[in-house]
Amino acid sequence: MAIKFAHKLFGMAATVAVAAIALQVSAQDAAAPAMQAAAPEAAAAPMPSKGEYLARAANCVACHSVDGGEAFSGGLKMMTPMGALYATNITPDKETGIGNYTLEDFDKAVRLGQVKDGHRMYPAMPYPSYAKLSAEDISALYDFFMKEVKPVKLANKPAEIPSYLDVRWAMGIWNAIFFDDARFKPVEGKDAVWNRGAYLVEGAGHCGVCHTPRGIAFQEKGMTYKDGNFLVGAPLDNWTASNLTGDINSGLGRWSKEDLAAFLKTGHNQHGIAFGTMVDVINNSTSYFTDADIDAMSTYLKSLPPQKEKGATAWAYTADTATALKARDYSKTGALVFAQQCAACHVADGKGRGDYQPPLAGNPTVLDPDASSLINMVLNGSARVIVNGVPDSYRMPYYRVLLSDQQVADVVTFIRGSWGNKASAVTAKQVSDVRKETDPLHNDIIVLRMK
Ligand code: HEC
Ligand code: HEC
Ligand code: HEC
Repeated sequence: MAIKFAHKLFGMAATVAVAAIALQVSAQDAAAPAMQAAAPEAAAAPMPSKGEYLARAANCVACHSVDGGEAFSGGLKMMTPMGALYATNITPDKETGIGNYTLEDFDKAVRLGQVKDGHRMYPAMPYPSYAKLSAEDISALYDFFMKEVKPVKLANKPAEIPSYLDVRWAMGIWNAIFFDDARFKPVEGKDAVWNRGAYLVEGAGHCGVCHTPRGIAFQEKGMTYKDGNFLVGAPLDNWTASNLTGDINSGLGRWSKEDLAAFLKTGHNQHGIAFGTMVDVINNSTSYFTDADIDAMSTYLKSLPPQKEKGATAWAYTADTATALKARDYSKTGALVFAQQCAACHVADGKGRGDYQPPLAGNPTVLDPDASSLINMVLNGSARVIVNGVPDSYRMPYYRVLLSDQQVADVVTFIRGSWGNKASAVTAKQVSDVRKETDPLHNDIIVLRMK
């Protein structure tokens, strides 16, 4: 089993590290030859054990591994505003990993954020979501890590947080204020499918880690469907994790349950294609879900009411942009850059081509009030979606070298204001900020920033 994870990991070079590595690879090596290495793996995989399935659902590998390293052996650098943290070795090696953990130690670590040696973890480890995991599932996960994962001897790297900023001692207080250690309880009045979806989204899948905005103490501003801020979208690593509530324009209001299921399973649907840090989630985690679990998550997500655009008018397509572009009228800001650089794939009518070159017309990410994802995408492109070992054949190119800050601002403004899209304009200053923060030569890309 471990080999499968490790192999997958290798094949995914660009997508494993939450953004940092992805950016380096996509900016420096557009062809990403390591990607192709994943292809032969497409053959039907044997049924995973329950614990392996849960490790996928919880995407433990995404943080506890580095590009080219052994699965679960740790080492991923996660920048926080205080300094760098490294995810640890969670293979069953007795010296450097978690080989001496009892089931109880494991439960305390994963659900409560307490390490065996007594210290408390920072919530860069998503224990506030994992707290919801059932005793049975923790036990299956434990069995997987102890019996199926290959032990790897690799010492943990110490955190690079200056002692005056190291607030580990305060995590007990943080937990007392912000942390609810209760396991998931099915919600009465909701059916089993919805409840399974809630368990996966709020618990194992820890979707809120990226999609829920954070407060000043780094706490997620909502942990369940009852909280107004839960999954309303949030900035992270210079991407915007989308609004997943029922909002009609920038949320999932215009997506059917089937659209959503297709996106989670394959990274594609008629509305868009996964990019940024979401690629990592699809490649490592949701593409492995059973159809029943995909259906459960989609059912649950589609039940979330609109939160940010109450009473908004739904986006409707207009033909004016396509008409102007076809008449070679480039008077609108950004129109010429779009025609020269983007129209070949996204098409003058903004509708893209099939499931492989996404539409920009009406696309919720294009309509998002926060344009960081769009700027990042145009500057740096994105890692590829890989499902069943097969990488996408098309991929968004990067324009960091070719286009100036002003040109990127203009073209992003153009796509946000064409084909019926009505989202705010973008400035050259916004582009220059993202350009600096995502510079591949810059080693301290903020992976988990407070906002
Ligand atoms: C979003 C990133 C992320 C994900 C996903 C994640 N972890 Fe972690 N984990 C971390 C970080 C970072 C630390 C170190 C925290 C610290 O030092 O305060 C950690 C620490 C741990 C520890 C403590 C190990 C030790 O003894 O030092 C265990 C055990 C652990 N994780 C298990 C898991 C398991 C099991 C999963 C999947 C169910 C998982 N983690 C998913 C980031 C993550
Ligand atoms: C590591 C951060 C991260 C995690 C964890 C994460 N997402 Fe995302 N997600 C993103 C980002 C960034 C985007 C925007 C890029 C895109 O559309 O693919 C996104 C986009 C999406 C979209 C597309 C929305 C749209 O309007 O285009 C869906 C649906 C989604 N995520 C569902 C989920 C679910 C369900 C989970 C939990 C299983 C999850 N995400 C976990 C970062 C994350
Ligand atoms: C070679 C084809 C190609 C060109 C040229 C291209 N794109 Fe893309 N674009 C893609 C693909 C493919 C994706 C889907 C993400 C991925 O797989 O990389 C994408 C995704 C996007 C997205 C995210 C949409 C979503 O939700 O899926 C935006 C925004 C975008 N492109 C804007 C642009 C702009 C602006 C330009 C011109 C400066 C441009 N693209 C040029 C192929 C292209």
